[in-house]
Amino acid sequence: MSSFPEGFWWGVATSAYQVEGATDDDGRGTSIWDTFARLPGAIRNGETGDVACDQYHRFEQDIALMAELGIGAYRFSVAWPRIQPQGRGPANQRGLDHYRRLVDALLASGIAPVMTLFHWDLPQSLEDVGGWAERDTASRFAEYAALVHDAIGADVAACITINEPWVAAWLGYGTGTHAPGRRDDALALSASHHLLLAHGMAMDAVGGNAGITLNLEPHRPASDDPVDVAAARLADRHMNAWFLDPLFGRGYPDDLVDRYRAVTDWSFVRDGDLTAIARPLAFLGVNYYRPHTIAGRPVPHGVETPGSLGAWSLVPPGAAVTATGWPIDPSGFLEILDEVHREYSPSRILVTENGAAFDDTIGPDGRIEDRARIAYLDAHIEVLHDALRAGIPLDGYFVWSLLDNFEWAEGYAKRFGLVHVDAGTQRRAPKASATWYRDLIAREAHAPPPLTRRQHAD
Ligand code: FCB
Repeated sequence: MSSFPEGFWWGVATSAYQVEGATDDDGRGTSIWDTFARLPGAIRNGETGDVACDQYHRFEQDIALMAELGIGAYRFSVAWPRIQPQGRGPANQRGLDHYRRLVDALLASGIAPVMTLFHWDLPQSLEDVGGWAERDTASRFAEYAALVHDAIGADVAACITINEPWVAAWLGYGTGTHAPGRRDDALALSASHHLLLAHGMAMDAVGGNAGITLNLEPHRPASDDPVDVAAARLADRHMNAWFLDPLFGRGYPDDLVDRYRAVTDWSFVRDGDLTAIARPLAFLGVNYYRPHTIAGRPVPHGVETPGSLGAWSLVPPGAAVTATGWPIDPSGFLEILDEVHREYSPSRILVTENGAAFDDTIGPDGRIEDRARIAYLDAHIEVLHDALRAGIPLDGYFVWSLLDNFEWAEGYAKRFGLVHVDAGTQRRAPKASATWYRDLIAREAHAPPPLTRRQHAD
């Protein structure tokens, strides 16, 4: 017997810069990723998102593929520089028209459109005046959100304001491994605040079935040495509580506020900001990939976590890992869902990303038997059963990703897709995991979910 509720979303996810290509089409402006990808050494093999999966031109084919697989919902993102090429001012109609066509084609195929407004491709013109480290960017985002909402907001099923503010702030402005490549903890802190503020301000504009997506990862101490225990707790709060606490009305965690007084006076947090950030969420989006094992001292092969916390993430000896070196551990998924539910009680939770990169091999018959990906997904979907049984209000699950795509600083080397993409020909070839997911959906999906917010409201 299936334990999944009626109308549960079985989805797949992508994001604009990772799949669209067509970076000069229809008046699109430059994003920070276009600029960053051109910096020598920024991206593995010097690759860019210029062509990516060419989904801008091939979305009808991709939607037909999703329909064949029985996919119930498609999480895509809107490229801000297509809507406002310079990050401000009136909407570029050709940009809006593209997403209108995408949404209409999804609806015509019975696939619920789940729209993310910001998946990291900030207009370069806004970065030129400080980017997320500047407060004004939050106001610009709210304006952009309203433009998109007015044009297509009623026809999407759900709207996610911001994807993974921790990554955008700390990898973009702290470690500099992502665009815009800045390296300053003080900037990362103000960026994290302005990303949350942008979310809160946009919630007023987009209303209805809207929320935010966080990357949530449990951090476990490498040993019971108090130094490791303290470092794990700090790194955990840095990634998780730092965002969850203010979103759920608790303000920023005091321990981290105190810790960072050495680098910032916090003057960018103004009266009323925390109220704006804590707007009620229709759902919380959770992206889960892996847990961390944390040591409080440098360890061989340990990777220091962002934010100068004195915490090093290591992979426990013998642990199974994906092609990105991330430990495979579905118990961390249940841990995080359970913690979010117990501590913050969001009314609904959407798992907006989960998946794994593996070095797929194409068999002599052209088939890709990606058994490791199937095992990863199967084990994590098993956790959804456990979570639902425990009363955790899950509304949907999105595999990252539909397609092999541009994996940020890793370029095209790390393949997360259910569907293989040949970079030369753009040919799509469903892997064994795609047909496995199709069969799972056929077994588990009951009534189709409402396709649009308008239907929801009726
Ligand atoms: C997440 C991102 C997504 C993708 C996956 C692998 O952090 O949101 O774009 O790169 O990781």
